[in-house]
Amino acid sequence: METLLVINSSGRRTRSITRRLTSRFIEQWRSAHPDGEVIERDVTATPPPVVTENWVAGAFSDPASHTAEHRAALAPSDEIIAEVKRADAIVIGSPIYNFGMPAQLKAWIDQLVRAGVTFGFDPSQDPAYQPLLESKPVTVIVSAGDGAMHPGGALWPMNHFEPHLQTVLGFIGLPDIEFIRVGYDEYQDERLKNSLATAEQRVAERATASSPAVC
Ligand SMILES: Cc1cc2nc3c(=O)[nH]c(=O)nc-3n(C[C@H](O)[C@H](O)[C@H](O)COP(=O)(O)O)c2cc1C
Repeated sequence: METLLVINSSGRRTRSITRRLTSRFIEQWRSAHPDGEVIERDVTATPPPVVTENWVAGAFSDPASHTAEHRAALAPSDEIIAEVKRADAIVIGSPIYNFGMPAQLKAWIDQLVRAGVTFGFDPSQDPAYQPLLESKPVTVIVSAGDGAMHPGGALWPMNHFEPHLQTVLGFIGLPDIEFIRVGYDEYQDERLKNSLATAEQRVAERATASSPAVC
């Protein structure tokens, strides 16, 4: 049985472009995988906690020495990592907020990236860092108010969303990422309509692809 993990992070509950596209992805993926399982995590409705003193102390010490406080601080991380490991494919829906990812998605990333669990650190090796997750396809559905923020656009140098996500997911072993982009939400013109239509088409192809290497 295939498992699809879907992360939604838009602050908007209704009118969200990325939520609409992740819903379409799920619908189409379900029709192609009738026996499949979909795990949905809404990091806006239930934001992962931020990293704290107990989290850091627990994450960088021997689990055998953990206190109840360490275990409690790391519990959301354990859950988030288990979902990512269980998934055969991952979809992330996210707006660009202030040139990067929304804080709630960053909180999810901060729970997911963990020494000794999703990446290894050995100062005697070169490189010292090793990704520990098994690679699987990741689809990032991203919407921006200004489409010029996307690759090739005049505002691309201001886009820290894509390079950040690509770097951090690659760091833990998830380098296989396709970005499906929508732009010009702020302009509400033909360019928005066109980018939405292209994104919908690509979502359908990606969600129903028969190759297990894709989804
Ligand atoms: C707090 C906030 C910050 C934003 N920052 C940017 C930005 O830096 N660049 C941009 O192009 N659009 C920005 N936008 C516009 C959103 O990226 C755009 O409306 C997107 O479609 C929202 O995704 P959603 O429709 O899934 O909610 C911002 C919107 C909000 C609410």
